[in-house]
Amino acid sequence: MSRETLEKILDLARWAPSGDNTQPWRFEIVSDSRLAIHGFDTRKHVLYDFDGHASHMAHGALLETLRLAATRFALRAEWKLRPGSPDEAPIYEVTLSPAAMAEDPLLRHVETRSVQRRAMRATPLAPAQKDALAAAVGDGYTLRFFESFADRFAVARLLWQNAGIRLTCPEAYPVHRDIIEWKARYSADRIPDQAVGVDPATTLLMRWVMQRWERVAFFNRYLGGTIVPRVQLDFIPALACAGHILMKPATRPVEFLDHVRAGVALQRLWLTAASLGLHLQPEMTPLIFRWYAREQREFSSLPRIARQARALAARFESVAGAKEDDSFAFFCRVGHSPPPRSRSLRKTLDELSARIR
Ligand SMILES: Cc1cc2nc3c(=O)[nH]c(=O)nc-3n(C[C@H](O)[C@H](O)[C@H](O)COP(=O)(O)O)c2cc1C
Repeated sequence: MSRETLEKILDLARWAPSGDNTQPWRFEIVSDSRLAIHGFDTRKHVLYDFDGHASHMAHGALLETLRLAATRFALRAEWKLRPGSPDEAPIYEVTLSPAAMAEDPLLRHVETRSVQRRAMRATPLAPAQKDALAAAVGDGYTLRFFESFADRFAVARLLWQNAGIRLTCPEAYPVHRDIIEWKARYSADRIPDQAVGVDPATTLLMRWVMQRWERVAFFNRYLGGTIVPRVQLDFIPALACAGHILMKPATRPVEFLDHVRAGVALQRLWLTAASLGLHLQPEMTPLIFRWYAREQREFSSLPRIARQARALAARFESVAGAKEDDSFAFFCRVGHSPPPRSRSLRKTLDELSARIR
């Protein structure tokens, strides 16, 4: 295998999704047949990266994308965790070997798959589409669909409540401030403001308000500042879709690799959705706030936030017909729509190449 082939595989793998487009990985070409993926997480400064799980899921999405990319060159890619590497900085060792195989049909969608945060059509999913999505995640996961108007309305209310935490929690503010690239249609290392999902006037106002937490807090308190973003980012999109999908693991996650495996499944789900002409938006924050609430971990200086997270977890369980100790790996909505006009791009292969001393 030439270095050029390995670079082509990594160049495709780069397109894996990651929470807030953080791309928590660096690549090392170890030899003609071995790669090392140096993962990291953002738990120290990103509220949503609970115990690094969102990053671990992104690692899984990357490893699956890399595996698919290798099939273009008739190569089988297999990965394992380097023994002793910690979950804050896991190193995944990838071995490539020649194999008589055709290109995986999901690979065609790797570069065009993109998050859709805007309203989609509510055209129902066909039974064959649902079967294909359920098959995509494999035996380790089951999917529950929320499709009727009543179900989507229940999710819309859940997301409304969820956004109340997201938008008024002081610890979430620096995350939102730092991940948006303003006046941008594309962004290599963040989310362009035009892909956030609000209208241009609201974007302008958000840009000014989000410069300082004091402005955000004032708007929220006296001017109903959460209402417009909640309507545009949560309530309308929750109704304007074919349905929501909750991915449940067959067994409770016990180690961080279980979250990496969930990432493999989520990327297969997302690429399969793309292959069916569907768009998808992850809706991970209710799950993440529920992780905090169920582990009784405080994440805010404001005591009301912990109470709100517990109430959100209870509503989530009631909407999903779940018990307190049920675990969920991924939550998203899907639907038909034109491709988003604005999207996140990726850092270059050079920027993502590990400088190993
Ligand atoms: C584990 C994970 C969690 C995510 N959570 C959310 C989310 O809660 N809301 C959202 O709008 N997008 C979410 N995303 C989508 C990312 O923001 C998006 O994939 C990334 O910015 C790259 O953009 P692209 O998918 O258009 O390439 C998530 C992605 C991953 C992999």
